[in-house]
Amino acid sequence: MTTKIFIPRDSSAIGLGANLVADAFTRVVQSNNADVQIVRNGSRGLIWMEPLVEVETETGRQGYANVTSNDVDSLFKTMFAGASDHHEKSVGPVEEIPYLKNQERLCFARNGITDPTSIEDYLGNDGYRGLKVALSLDAKSIVEIVTQSGLRGRGGAAFPTGIKWNTVLNCPSDQKYIVCNADEGDSGTFSDRMTIEGDPFALIEGMTIAALAVGATKGYVYLRSEYPHAEEVFTEALLIARAHGYLGENVCGSKRSFDIELRRAAGAYICGEETSMLESLEGKRGLVRPKPPLPAISGLFGQPTVVNNVVTLSSIPFILANGASAYKDYGMGRSMGTLPIQLAGNIKRGGLVEKAFGVTLNELLYDFGGGSASGKPIRTLQIGGPLGAYIPESQFDLKLDYETFSAAGAMIGHGGIVVFDQTVNMASMARFAMEFCAIESCGKCTPCRLSLIHI
Ligand SMILES: Cc1cc2nc3c(=O)[nH]c(=O)nc-3n(C[C@H](O)[C@H](O)[C@H](O)COP(=O)(O)O)c2cc1C
Repeated sequence: MTTKIFIPRDSSAIGLGANLVADAFTRVVQSNNADVQIVRNGSRGLIWMEPLVEVETETGRQGYANVTSNDVDSLFKTMFAGASDHHEKSVGPVEEIPYLKNQERLCFARNGITDPTSIEDYLGNDGYRGLKVALSLDAKSIVEIVTQSGLRGRGGAAFPTGIKWNTVLNCPSDQKYIVCNADEGDSGTFSDRMTIEGDPFALIEGMTIAALAVGATKGYVYLRSEYPHAEEVFTEALLIARAHGYLGENVCGSKRSFDIELRRAAGAYICGEETSMLESLEGKRGLVRPKPPLPAISGLFGQPTVVNNVVTLSSIPFILANGASAYKDYGMGRSMGTLPIQLAGNIKRGGLVEKAFGVTLNELLYDFGGGSASGKPIRTLQIGGPLGAYIPESQFDLKLDYETFSAAGAMIGHGGIVVFDQTVNMASMARFAMEFCAIESCGKCTPCRLSLIHI
């Protein structure tokens, strides 16, 4: 029987040598004439273990962490040639690693498990179940389910997704759009990239459901220009989805038309702000537009437009497939469901942790993150990007919840956490954040223009 070996094709793994490891495995498999299939999966999000190589066994997938091409010969012997079961890079059954086991993966359920460009893998792991449900419902019922789920935008502003969709649904127009914001500019964030590189059909499915819900026929993904691997994977996934009838003139034989175009972003932080993004998509300079009108009413090319973040849209298939209450069961207060939190900076176990709202910063930093990478006490963390806040250690018992954070003068934003130990110079960090804002500001609104000019 063919044995599968999984080597991630995620940017973080590639940056740490995954392609060299894959080349070495291909050579050793060929020279041994072994019955092995090498699968380039997405990342599990245990970035500190990358490249994390997995082999399928009768007792589940066994993992080997921080593999280099020099390890491949001995690993191959461990896996196939009856050598001792133990290898110094072994981390045992992957699903049992506490970092992974203690998560609640709804949005990232398939990441690292599937081959991101295999539609068979996607379908075999709950893929397109949400679209099937959506196709059996009228537009209003789809919007109602999303509203009931309590899902709020994961791009930063946490606006209720169902309410936004309802506005677009109720705006009469011959042409409506779904725009996915994949500009991902906040510091320490990478969940959009990991979704697109590791589970692109989830985004395509989420956008298609959004289109059915509001009556849109065209979608755009505005993808951060520094994401070449995501561009490659998504381009491939779009072709596959079209070839299998999941996009195009007649989506799944429903006589409903929807297609998606991928656009490389302009490389400016301000273009992640939704109205600048719409300007940029229209081929103009990335300057903010005054609101009102809301993009939901007059968005791309002046038409009603849903603008949502990658994670927001990729959460939709689960909600449609499992129902609003299955999603709402997770979370606290008005923060429903889960958030893929990204741990970065001076942290021992950096990576992606999807947890229900209500998890504390302490749990994230120490139970998952294992403390600082330097071993020194953590002094602060930045969350919410350059426009967010630095939170001191005294507040690490804060629970992740939009309202709790707001009351503490902070914001969750896109869920990126950048960690600093006690050696950080807070004055210079404050200066750095403001310098970043000064450079990246489009200068259109008065407060930004007049205050940042002095930096
Ligand atoms: C300066 C600035 C930068 C932003 N950058 C992003 C970004 O990179 N990605 C994103 O999804 N939202 C970003 N936003 C938020 C968007 O304007 C918008 O709220 C979001 O795309 C809406 O989608 P959501 O409701 O799914 O969150 C930014 C906002 C501001 C003010």
